[in-house]
Amino acid sequence: MSDTVLSVQGLVRDFGGFRAVNHVDLAVERGTIHAVIGPNGAGKSTLFKLITGSLRPTEGRIVLDGHSVGGRRPHVIATRGLVQVFQLSSVCARLTVAESVALGIIAHRHRTLDVVTGYQRRARAQAETILEQVGLGGQAATIAGTLSHGDQRALEIAMALAISPRVLLLDEPTAGMSPAETAVIAQLIVSEARTRGITVLLSEHDMDVVFGISDRVTVLHQGQVVTEGTPDAVRVHPEVMAIYLGHAAGRSEELA
Ligand SMILES: Nc1ncnc2c1ncn2[C@@H]1O[C@H](COP(=O)(O)OP(=O)(O)OP(=O)(O)O)[C@@H](O)[C@H]1O
Ligand SMILES: [Mg+2]
Repeated sequence: MSDTVLSVQGLVRDFGGFRAVNHVDLAVERGTIHAVIGPNGAGKSTLFKLITGSLRPTEGRIVLDGHSVGGRRPHVIATRGLVQVFQLSSVCARLTVAESVALGIIAHRHRTLDVVTGYQRRARAQAETILEQVGLGGQAATIAGTLSHGDQRALEIAMALAISPRVLLLDEPTAGMSPAETAVIAQLIVSEARTRGITVLLSEHDMDVVFGISDRVTVLHQGQVVTEGTPDAVRVHPEVMAIYLGHAAGRSEELA
């Protein structure tokens, strides 16, 4: 039986006269890793911003765990369990790694001023557990802004995990990473999804990551869904191959 945690129905987003997202339907099953792929400008980031509430839909519905959330503010959607990975640059890069994660926990629970109950100390302990899980256990006292690019992305994921999301959105989690850093992040996504039952929706240009870790893949092109299916089915889909061959010249995103 299907158990859809996130569903998008007839979603449209116009920018002036330009339709960036064009009647998109998407159903994400609970506990799965679901990738959205497509060439540059396909509408992936716009779709994610609509889902997180940072952009308002022109038309259509977004349903999270049975609740209509389309057009709601991001913090409202976050309290319903859907979280996009924070950009570290928007967080204070002068905090330590452990402080960054603890801050996420405290802010999410609106307990910033609650020093009496030792809540901050507990948040710190929780942060350290999460840092162990993402492989940053030895870096708790490091200033966040001085981490390597790969470790900063792992910290961003730790900060999102700190607030126990039901659905985690990752827009190009491996962008700009070395192959070794990419492998670590891909493994982290898989282990979080499998061991904590977190549903992951990600967009990604690295096809090894997409086909290596995803349960389902949705292909977007010019704002529209071309196909949706298992990695094996999508990989050999004629229209998908044609889209990628048409865009692959000089690029590293062939489907091979
Ligand atoms: N705020 C905006 N105003 C006008 N046009 C926009 C805006 N945001 C996105 N677009 C346009 O919408 C289209 C989809 O952009 P989007 O960023 O969603 O693509 P994408 O699939 O994430 O691409 P990439 O793979 O390069 O990240 C593009 O043509 C883009 O120029
Ligand atoms: Mg994008």
